Amino acid sequence: MEPHDQAGVPAGATTLPARYYIDPAHYAVELDRIFGRMWTCVGRVDEVPQVGDYTLRQVGDEGLIVVRAAPDRIHAFYNVCRHRGTRVCDAPAGHAKRLQCPYHAWTYDLDGRLVAAPHFEEGDGFHKSELGLGPVACDIWEGQVFLNLADNPPPLLDQLAGLPAKFAPWRLGELRRGARVVYDVAANWKLIIQNYSECLHCPVIHPALAKVSHYLSGENEPAGPDSTYLGGRMDLRPGVATMSLDGRARRANLPGLDGDACRHVYYYAVLPNLLLSVHPDYLMTHVLRPVAVDRTEVICEWHFHPDEMARPGFDPADAVEFWDLTNRQDWHVSELTQLGLKSRAYTPGPYSDREELLHAFDRWVVAKAEGQKCDEPQMSSSVLLRLQAGRKVRVSYRSDGS
Ligand code: FES
Ligand SMILES: [Fe+2]
Repeated sequence: MEPHDQAGVPAGATTLPARYYIDPAHYAVELDRIFGRMWTCVGRVDEVPQVGDYTLRQVGDEGLIVVRAAPDRIHAFYNVCRHRGTRVCDAPAGHAKRLQCPYHAWTYDLDGRLVAAPHFEEGDGFHKSELGLGPVACDIWEGQVFLNLADNPPPLLDQLAGLPAKFAPWRLGELRRGARVVYDVAANWKLIIQNYSECLHCPVIHPALAKVSHYLSGENEPAGPDSTYLGGRMDLRPGVATMSLDGRARRANLPGLDGDACRHVYYYAVLPNLLLSVHPDYLMTHVLRPVAVDRTEVICEWHFHPDEMARPGFDPADAVEFWDLTNRQDWHVSELTQLGLKSRAYTPGPYSDREELLHAFDRWVVAKAEGQKCDEPQMSSSVLLRLQAGRKVRVSYRSDGS
């Protein structure tokens, strides 16, 4: 990795104006120009292991079906019946030989073709071949499913740029999900990416993390407004094997990793909505789903090597407890920031030279949302205020990897 470029933050760089975080009109622009046009991560391909398995997803305001049509073929469709627009699938996940609309029983095969429409005769302007489910571009990288709502999007690999080569040694696609926690965070999705992209707050709010990794360790990759990912790596402290409350090794490192890779944790924000945290012995992912201008669903998952998961007594709790604690600390300050941004007292504040990824992210957002390059330096900082309780959390632990 190239050394961190301190020149990435120009003097006078500041955070973005409040409207980027609180204005529903601006939020609608982001849904259209970012989530409506880019490859967006919607989770892991493990969700649909068998032919006929489907799961419902949402990108922006669009309800979508992701279905495995064949062992080597996964499709995504708009969840919109071609008869009168009804949602075809209602359950959040399921298994079906065909997808049948609950209203008048129009039936689609797993490739989205309309195969039955009771009381309609072929001909006279009615052609089943023209009334298949609306397709959505779908592709997979290392087990992560990406969808793109654009009509003719460029390949996913174009957007991922250097990531596939960078993470090839980890063979992340072989890993299986061991645990999941879903958080409902009262903050704009960009605040969560910004929080993820710096560790200046770590000694303040993450004492457990500070014990296993020094907040000033490691380095970031240089990033600019055209970067489609932002990240870098941090070092594990001497004697620490992985990120957990005690830092002890409980699992073998992922196969094929050399000694140096096992001394770091790699943190990459894969824009617009996947946070990839690559540990020596497991992968943690956060998938962000904006729900409103001031609310984001965050799906955090932990993925392990199948050999480890098959061992008697496999238990992901050390990784889950550590990051669940850290997550909640991060969501808390993100929510406090969201509250402050609504105030008439808020004005853009200064970025330090260790917040270069946030500055790059801001310029990327401005370029996407405004359709232009952002020449003005921008910036953000979080302030720890007071505790806020009552966050809704859904927790499920899985040890079978299915
Ligand atoms: S709306 Fe779907 S079958 Fe009529
Ligand atoms: Fe944090």
